[in-house]
Amino acid sequence: MKKFIKILCVIMSVAMVVSLASCGSSSDDDTLTMATNANFPPYEYKEGENFKGIDVEIATAIAEKLGKKLEIADVEFGSIIGGVQSGKYDMGMAGMTVTDERKKSVNFSTTYATGIQSVIVKSGSKVKSVDDISTMVKEGGKIGVQQDTTGDIYASDTEENGGYGENNVIRYKNGADAVQALVSDKVGCVIIDNEPAKSFVAANKGLEILQTEFTVEDYAIAIAKDNDDLLKDINKALDELKKDGTIDKIVDKYIPSK
Ligand code: ARG
Repeated sequence: MKKFIKILCVIMSVAMVVSLASCGSSSDDDTLTMATNANFPPYEYKEGENFKGIDVEIATAIAEKLGKKLEIADVEFGSIIGGVQSGKYDMGMAGMTVTDERKKSVNFSTTYATGIQSVIVKSGSKVKSVDDISTMVKEGGKIGVQQDTTGDIYASDTEENGGYGENNVIRYKNGADAVQALVSDKVGCVIIDNEPAKSFVAANKGLEILQTEFTVEDYAIAIAKDNDDLLKDINKALDELKKDGTIDKIVDKYIPSK
């Protein structure tokens, strides 16, 4: 009997170790959790309860390749990196620009798209080019941005660094709110990525995008630094999806001119 209990104990402790090991890493289970901020058409947005967009479709294709179910968490843009870092989400995919600062906190996959920071103004605005923004802020005008995005980072930077100073920037929870602030004259322009800019301009009368390109950026998927296996798996999936034309097909569907 004693021997039996002893064997039972050994079996139980082995089982415990095995189950602990399998819940240690989020990439071991059968879901791939993607953190995004779904107010960024055509990359991610909601239609009723459904998530749509380029990132959503690419993520679905990646999950399929990894044999996992995609789960999407719609969170504030600024909380994506922290959530990935802490392991709450497997990856962050949100038209997210690769920056050196962000690279200190997370790893990035290979890039799958490029973005350009653009400036939206009201038609007939005195701001006719990027150069006019400094005059606008000197006259008391404000720049609208989505909080924690690269648009925010550039605009809020000091003048010496090419920005306009934090005091001249109003931060909104999402791009749509920033654009509404422009419509109601609370800000004189909005700095945001070009494709969302096009969507917002198409959805609101009387707005236009300045011709000048502010800056060009690479979009990639954020993954926790200690999650090398997932980084490798995602890069492999992205590579296959690029080679077999899936990514082009998805992008074409949402951005037909490309
Ligand atoms: N590309 C910009 C950045 O990385 C803006 C991304 C905003 N994305 C979003 N889903 N709201 O900062």
